[in-house]
Amino acid sequence: MGSKIEQAEPLLSVQDLVVTYYTRAGEVRAVDHVDLDIVKGEVLGLVGESGCGKSTLGMAFLRLVRTPGQITNGRILFHGRDLLELSEREVQALRGAHISMIFQDPMTSLDPLQRIDDHFVESIRAHDKTVSRKEAVERAAELFDLLGIARDRLHDYPHQLSGGMRQRVMIGLALALNAELIIADEPTTSLDVLVEAQFLDLLKDLKKRYDMTLVLITHNIGIVAELADRVAVMYAGKLVELADVIPLFGEPLHPYTEALLSSVPNIRLDTELKIMEGQPPDLLVPPTGCRFHPRCPYAMDICREKDPPLVELEGGRKVACWLFEKEGTPHRSAEVSYA
Ligand SMILES: Nc1ncnc2c1ncn2[C@@H]1O[C@H](COP(=O)(O)OP(=O)(O)OP(=O)(O)O)[C@@H](O)[C@H]1O
Ligand code: SF4
Ligand SMILES: [Mg+2]
Repeated sequence: MGSKIEQAEPLLSVQDLVVTYYTRAGEVRAVDHVDLDIVKGEVLGLVGESGCGKSTLGMAFLRLVRTPGQITNGRILFHGRDLLELSEREVQALRGAHISMIFQDPMTSLDPLQRIDDHFVESIRAHDKTVSRKEAVERAAELFDLLGIARDRLHDYPHQLSGGMRQRVMIGLALALNAELIIADEPTTSLDVLVEAQFLDLLKDLKKRYDMTLVLITHNIGIVAELADRVAVMYAGKLVELADVIPLFGEPLHPYTEALLSSVPNIRLDTELKIMEGQPPDLLVPPTGCRFHPRCPYAMDICREKDPPLVELEGGRKVACWLFEKEGTPHRSAEVSYA
C-alpha cells in the first residue's frame, strides 16, 4: 500500500532509465536504471552529492541530454506518451508549454538582446498564435504583480534585472504557458540568502495557488524540508531512497540518506548537503555490488557482490539496500554514529 502520492496517477514516469556519457576516458553511466514517478501537484526534492546524476536526470525528463550524453535505455512517459518515441519537433512543442526547466543561471535561458516583455510575447505566441501581443503583455504584467516585480521592469533587458528577479521571470515564463511540470535545477544557488528566502516564499505561494508540480534539484536540505512533499535520494547514478519528506527526515532508511541527514543537526534554510567521509565513486569505474559499499558502515558480503534492487516497503517508501530486502525489516548489525 502506497501513500496518497504514490497511489495517484503519475504525470511523468521514468522507467528503467539509463543515461550514458561517452567520454574519452570511457563510459560514465550518470543515470543507472532509474524508475521514478512524478505525481501531479507534488514538489519532489531530488538530492545527492555532486556528480551523482541529478542534473542529468532532470535534463532527461525533457529529453535534453546532449552529446556526449545519450539516453541508452528506458522510457520517459509524459501523460502516458513515451518522449523517446517522439520526433524532436514534437518534444520541442512539449518543452516550455508543458514541461519547463529552470537553471541555476537564468541568463543561459534568456536572450540578452531581448526585452523581458518580448520574451513573454514570443513564448506565449509560439504556443498560441491567437493571443495578440497586447494580450500577451497584459498576461505578463499580471504575472509580474504576482511575482512581486514592478510592471515597468517588463521593458528591461535581462542584464538590468537582479539575479532574484531573473529567477522570478523564469518562473513567470513557465506560468505564462501553464507549464504542467517545472524542473528547477539549483534555482537559488546564485542568490544571496535573503533573496533566496523571498524566492522560496514565492514558490510556496505558487505551489498553493497553482497546484504546481515541481521537481526541485538542490544541495540545500533546508529547501527540501520547507518545500518538498517527497524526496528522491540519488547516489552514483542510482535512486537509493524515495519517501515522503516527513518520514524521510524522521527516519532515513538507506545508510546513505542516514549519513547525509546526520551531518545536518539543525535543518535551516542555508543547510547545504555536507559531504560525509570518503568520496563518491568515480563513475568511470564504479564499485561492484552496491555502489555505496566502500563508505557504508553496515556493508555485508552480499553488498560487495550484488547490486540491491529498489524495493517498495510497507507505507510506499522505496529503498535500495540489502538491509531491507527481507519484508522491509531492517536487520542492521551495527550501531553507527556519524562524525
Ligand atoms: N557533458 C558531460 N560529459 C561527460 N560527463 C558528464 C557530462 N555531464 C555530466 N557528466 C558526468 O555525469 C555524472 C553526473 O553529472 P551531473 O551533472 O548529472 O551530476 P549532479 O548530481 O547534477 O552534480 P552537481 O550537484 O555537481 O550539479 C558526473 O560523473 C559527471 O562527471
Ligand atoms: S546494500 Fe549494503 S553497502 Fe549498500 S547501503 Fe545497504 S548495507 Fe550499505
Ligand atoms: Mg547538477
